[in-house]
Amino acid sequence: MSTAAAVLERCARLGLLSEEPGRLVRRYATPAMREANDLVAGWMREAGLAVREDAAGNLIGRRGDGRALVLGSHLDTVIDAGRYDGPLGVLAGVALVERLRDAPLPFALEVVGFADEEGVRYPTSFLGSSAMAGRFAPAWLRLADADGVAMADALRAFGGDPDAVASAARAPGELVAYCELHIEQGPVLERRGAPVGVVTAISGQTHARVGFRGEAGHAGTVPMDARRDALCAAAEWVLAAEALARDRPGLVATVGRLEVDPGARNVIPGEARLSLDVRHGSDAVRREAIADLRGEAQRVAAARAVQLAWEAHGETAAVPTEPQLSERLADAVAAAGRPVERLPSGAGHDGVAMAAIAPIAMLFVRCAGGISHHPAESVSEADVAVALDVLERFARALACGAAERP
Ligand code: GLV
Ligand code: MN
Ligand code: MN
Repeated sequence: MSTAAAVLERCARLGLLSEEPGRLVRRYATPAMREANDLVAGWMREAGLAVREDAAGNLIGRRGDGRALVLGSHLDTVIDAGRYDGPLGVLAGVALVERLRDAPLPFALEVVGFADEEGVRYPTSFLGSSAMAGRFAPAWLRLADADGVAMADALRAFGGDPDAVASAARAPGELVAYCELHIEQGPVLERRGAPVGVVTAISGQTHARVGFRGEAGHAGTVPMDARRDALCAAAEWVLAAEALARDRPGLVATVGRLEVDPGARNVIPGEARLSLDVRHGSDAVRREAIADLRGEAQRVAAARAVQLAWEAHGETAAVPTEPQLSERLADAVAAAGRPVERLPSGAGHDGVAMAAIAPIAMLFVRCAGGISHHPAESVSEADVAVALDVLERFARALACGAAERP
């Protein structure tokens, strides 16, 4: 079996480790995540890595001493996920270590499976990599999941140590670089006919929870002109948000979650709660859009005599990949005989947090139809083979460069 085929087979095996039968859901610090870490730890050991978990639950395999070239991605998933978003980068890292088994390198190699990138169980951004980058906010430990389980308790049950999360932080000098391989999750490489692409920057994001509170009432008796329907207010605002984002080049705005109370056929909705996710490559454009979306929500609420609650849930700035390191990755693509395609990432990645402590580079692999965050996510063995070839060339060139430097 080729290395690429072995990586895909491991992605398939990992894709079976889920919180729910019939669909892939693997959130932070769940028993499914425990199984995933244990399975990947076994593969890391087979590849000759010494394995440990840090206090936040990140899985770390290491070979060698001193400063490390870190390869990685995340092992958590969204709800009803595909099997490649995250795991492909971790398992490609393990495969690279296997390929470089006998190569004398002037730096250590590390493969990291971050415990939470998606922020599905708790409303956080890049939780695992933030812990590694020393940017974990201690207040996160008090966040509760949908079942009321505090993050600190979940982490303790998982085997981590909420009192020692700060110990997961790595000092900037410890890392030579952070390089992440990831599926593109969009259609650009497919359109350009290229198997891989070098990422130029990762878009900034703003997350918010938005609530409209009106008045519940009888669906049969309250006349239409006497209603304060929270769901109608939410619906009007969602469509306004869509129109606003369509109007501004490169802006994306998504309401991915909507909860309605009391949620009965014959009761006028008294409350609607929504999630908001807004992204753009320019932080100024994103922030202006957020201000306008909030203004629009205030206008809708006033017009419909409902109350608005707007709770900011964090933002991350746009992060460029490191130019020199990305040039080396581009050189590796060219050396592999492939066209050098460059593209920005609209999706968030652990590199955003890791950029605080290391130069970062990212290699995207073409995915079928640009489909991601969906069970139909798919990559070809041939494209993964190209990506592994590029990663190996990149690591070897980095080793030569490091050896040449005094
Ligand atoms: C993670 O995949 C994100 O971009 O939300
Ligand atoms: Mn994702
Ligand atoms: Mn991802």
